[in-house]
Order: sequence, then C-alpha cells, then structure tokens
Amino acid sequence: MSLLEQIDKERLPQHVAVIMDGNGRWAKEKGKLRVFGHQNGVVAVRDTVEGAVELGIKYLTLYAFSTENWNRPRLEVMALMELLVSTISKETKTLMENGVRLNAIGNLSTLPEKCRKQLLETIKKTSSNTNCTLTLALSYSSRWEITDAAKRIAIKVRDGEIKAEDITEDIFGDHLNTAGIPDPELMIRTSGEHRISNYLLWQIAYAELYFTSKLWPDFRRQDLFEAVIDYQKRERRFGMTSEQLN
Ligand code: IPE
Ligand code: IPE
Ligand code: MG
Repeated sequence: MSLLEQIDKERLPQHVAVIMDGNGRWAKEKGKLRVFGHQNGVVAVRDTVEGAVELGIKYLTLYAFSTENWNRPRLEVMALMELLVSTISKETKTLMENGVRLNAIGNLSTLPEKCRKQLLETIKKTSSNTNCTLTLALSYSSRWEITDAAKRIAIKVRDGEIKAEDITEDIFGDHLNTAGIPDPELMIRTSGEHRISNYLLWQIAYAELYFTSKLWPDFRRQDLFEAVIDYQKRERRFGMTSEQLN
C-alpha cells in the first residue's frame, strides 16, 4: 500500500505548520556554502506544497525567516532575501496551477522593499485560489506577534472600542497575524532539533509535534505523508480520558 493510500482522508489535519530547518548543515555535508542549502530548500518547498494540495490539506504554514535570523551574517541574510524574491516570482506559476493562495505573517515592514513588493504582488495574484492557503512566516517571531496583539487590544480598550472584561481567547486570537486561520493540528520540524524557536506559540497549544532528522532540502511530499500517517495514529485527548473519547 502506498503512503498516500494509508492516509484516512476523513481525518486529515486542516492545518500543518512546518519549521524548515537544516539547510546549512545539508550544504556543509556537501562541502558547499550555506546559501547552497537554502537554494536547494526551494525544491523541498515546492514538493511539500504540491503534496499538501494532493492530500487536501487546506492550510500550510512554513517558517521561512525568523526575527532572530536577522542576526545571521549579513551576506547570508542578503542571499536569503534575494532568494525569497526570485523564488516567489518564479513559483507564482506553480501556485496558480495548484490553486494555492499565498499569505504571509510576520513583521513584514522590516523586509527589504523589493521583497515586500514581490510578496504583495503574488499574494494579490493568487488571492482567489481555494485549494490551499500557503502562509510564509517571514521576519516572524511568536513573542513579537503576541506582544503586538496585546498592544492593539490595549489601544482598543483605551479608545473604548472594547471592554477589558470582554476580552476572550477568541478575541485575542483575532488580533494575531493568523486571524481567520484554524490552529495547526500538526507541527513538523526537520533536522533533528527538538525545539519550537519562537514559532506559533499561541496557535500550537494543542498541536501534535512531529520531529524528523531529515534535513530540509531532502524533505519531500512522502515525508509529509509519513508525518500525517503518524499524526493519525495518535489519540488527541484535549485533557480528557481515553474512555471519554471512545
Ligand atoms: C533553515 O535552515 C533555514 C532558515 C533558518 C532560514 P538553517 O539555515 O537554519 O540550517 P542549519 O540549521 O544551520 O543547518
Ligand atoms: C528556525 O530555525 C527558523 C526557521 C526555520 C526559519 P533556526 O535554525 O533559525 O532555529 P534555531 O536558531 O536553531 O533555534
Ligand atoms: Mg537551523
């Protein structure tokens, strides 16, 4: 039985979030510069997006650049920004063919102008696609996002738009960058690191975590399928007992 056939289409995660990690180590293994790893990471992104569409996953969120990544060597940061522009531009066709709507979260105002322009252009172009929403987390950090939400809610309270005692988890969620997107049920991290690195802290409260030692440039749709199969074997109890669920 193929991996795809082992997946129960009735119990798919709606939203899969991925921490694409290990590009640098992949390149180092091959005696190449880190940038070579990032370039090859693009192949993995394309195959994973197509795999998500093939499976019927409605939301895919990829961690592409964290706030903390600005602290990397200047040349690597510049190369990543260039790669981002050229990739989004080149891949627009693939997104259209697969019915994928592009979206972005993060402090986008910190991105170079050229990057932001290309991003907004492709977001606009793909806005009526409905198969899958691909969200790129760019210049993103969860603590930044949560602090920003708190700030905007505080301003609304100050201005009398909402009452402090009326703030609920739903209202808080509506002020995050991911407003309108369901929480991820499955979170995948590649490269063998077992940490979250400031990603979607609020949203993954009840996500199933899946770690693989594969480095990101080697990740393919089959790896996504394997993660979904693993996810479907788990019992999600949400604080209840096994007996209550069955
Ligand atoms: C992930 O790969 C890509 C980004 C963070 C932009 P890394 O560049 O972190 O690769 P490693 O972890 O150093 O191998
Ligand atoms: C997390 O990877 C950020 C992205 C994948 C974009 P890092 O490689 O930056 O994370 P740490 O520094 O190892 O935690
Ligand atoms: Mg890394």
